[in-house]
Amino acid sequence: MNIQLIDTNLFEPKENLTLKLITPKQLKKAKFKKTLKKAGFDATEGSSCAMHGKSLLFCGVEDFENDTLKTTMANVAKAIKNYNYKSLSVAVDERNIAAVVEGFILGGYSFENYKSKPKKQKIKTLYLTCKDVSSLQKLFEEAVITAEATCFTRDLVNTAPDDMYPEVMAQVAQNLAKENNLTCNILGKKELKKEKCRAMLAVGRASRHESKLIHLAYKPKNAKKIISLVGKGLTYDSGGLSLKPATSMVTMKMDKAGACAVLGIIKAVSELKLDVEVHAFIGAVENMIGGDAYKPDDVLKSRKGDTIEVRNTDAEGRLVLADVLDYAQDKTKPDYLFDFATLTGACMVALGQYTTGVMGHSSKLKHDLGKASKNAGELTATLPFNKHLKKQLKSEIADICNISNKPYGGAITAGLFLDNFIKKENKEKWLHFDIAGSAYTESPWDVNVYGATGAGVRFMTQFLKTLQTK
Ligand code: BES
Ligand code: ZN
Ligand code: ZN
Repeated sequence: MNIQLIDTNLFEPKENLTLKLITPKQLKKAKFKKTLKKAGFDATEGSSCAMHGKSLLFCGVEDFENDTLKTTMANVAKAIKNYNYKSLSVAVDERNIAAVVEGFILGGYSFENYKSKPKKQKIKTLYLTCKDVSSLQKLFEEAVITAEATCFTRDLVNTAPDDMYPEVMAQVAQNLAKENNLTCNILGKKELKKEKCRAMLAVGRASRHESKLIHLAYKPKNAKKIISLVGKGLTYDSGGLSLKPATSMVTMKMDKAGACAVLGIIKAVSELKLDVEVHAFIGAVENMIGGDAYKPDDVLKSRKGDTIEVRNTDAEGRLVLADVLDYAQDKTKPDYLFDFATLTGACMVALGQYTTGVMGHSSKLKHDLGKASKNAGELTATLPFNKHLKKQLKSEIADICNISNKPYGGAITAGLFLDNFIKKENKEKWLHFDIAGSAYTESPWDVNVYGATGAGVRFMTQFLKTLQTK
C-alpha cells in the first residue's frame, strides 16, 4: 500500500473512497444523519456504513484516543480489502496521524508468501489529507517506519521453519546490514566453539542446520547511549528429546520471534536515525531430535563457566540466551541490556496471551519501559523476582538447573535463570521480555491479524526514542 500525505486543497479525488471517522456525539450533528440512522448506523465502536453513491465510508469511533483510533483503522484496513476503489482518503492532524498510519498498516497486513494466488487489493493508495503537510511530515515518516519494521518482523516470524533456519536468518541480517549501513558479524560452529558457547551449541547439535550467532550494530556518530539487544532465535523448537506433544509443536516456528523483533528494532532505529548506538545479538538455533541430540541428564558448561544440569531439553531458549547474553556483555558496555524471547508457556498462564512479561531488577527501568509501551500501544506487565523462586533452580550436581523443581512461577524462574548470566555491573541495566504469548496469535486482536504480531518492535522503538532527549 502506498501512503501519501497531501494538502486537503490540492487533493483531487478520483475513484476515491472518503473515510469519515465519527463519534456517536458527532453523529447527532452529522450531515447525513437521517440516512445513516436509516441504515442502522449508530457510530459505536466497530460500526460502519458505506454510502457508495457518495463514495463515503462512515466508521464509528468511541473517541479519538490513540488506542481506539488504531483499532478502528485496523478494522477499516480489513474491511476495504474487497472494495473496488482506487484509493482511500482520510483527514488527519498532528494528534491522530500516527495512530491512523500504524493502525492501517498493521491491521491491513497479511502474509501471502505461501499462497499460489495472493489476494490483490484494488485500493492501492491511502491519502492522508491535512491542512499543513510540512508540520506533519516527520510524524508521518516515523509512523510508517515503525509500522513497516513491525511488518518486517512479522514476515520473518511467519516464514516456515524449512525456509528460515539459522543460515537464512544470518543472510537476512547481512542483507539488512547492507541496506541500512550496519556492521554485521556472524559466528558459525567453528567460531562458537572458539568462543566456548557450549550451551548454545548443545541445543543445536541434532539439527542439520548449523547454529549461528549474529551480531549487528548501528553506530551513529553522536550516540547518546549504547543499547544491547539480545534475541532468542529458535528457528524451530520441537522440544528436543523432551519432545513437545504434537499439538504444542504447531506454531513453534514462532520461537524465533525474539530474534526477529531485535532485527525489526535495529531496522527501525537505523531508519529513524536515532542518536543511540544499538547492538543486536541473536542466537539462531534449531532444537531437534536425533542420535546426536543433547539429553536430559547432560551437564553443559556455559560460556560464562557455570555448569548447567539439563533436566528438560525443551527449556532450550535459556541455554542459548545464557551464552549469547554472556557474549554480548563481553563485546559491549551498554547503558541498557534487553533480551527478547518466546521463553515460557508459563508467561501466558500468568498474563494471558496479549501481554509481554517484563522482568528485571531496576524499578525505574521497568517503570520507564511501562510508560513507553503504553504510548506505543503494546501491552506489558512486570513479573517480580524473589529469592525463594531463585532457589528452585538449585541443582544437586551442577551450578544451576535449566528447569525449576516446582511447577509454579515458570516465567519468573526462567527470567531468574537468565539473571544468573547477567554480570554485576549490568544488573540494573537489564530487562528480560517474555513474548511467548504476545508474539503470535491464531485469532485477530487489536491491530494484529493471524500469525506473528511483531511484539516488542513498537514499545522498544518508542523507548529508544525517549532516550534522544535525555
Ligand atoms: N518456546 C517455548 C516456550 C513457548 C511455549 C513459547 C508456548 C510460545 C508458546 C520454550 O522453549 C519452552 O518449551 N518452554 C517450556 C519450559 C519448561 C520445559 C520449563 C514451557 O514453557 O513449557
Ligand atoms: Zn522449548
Ligand atoms: Zn523455545
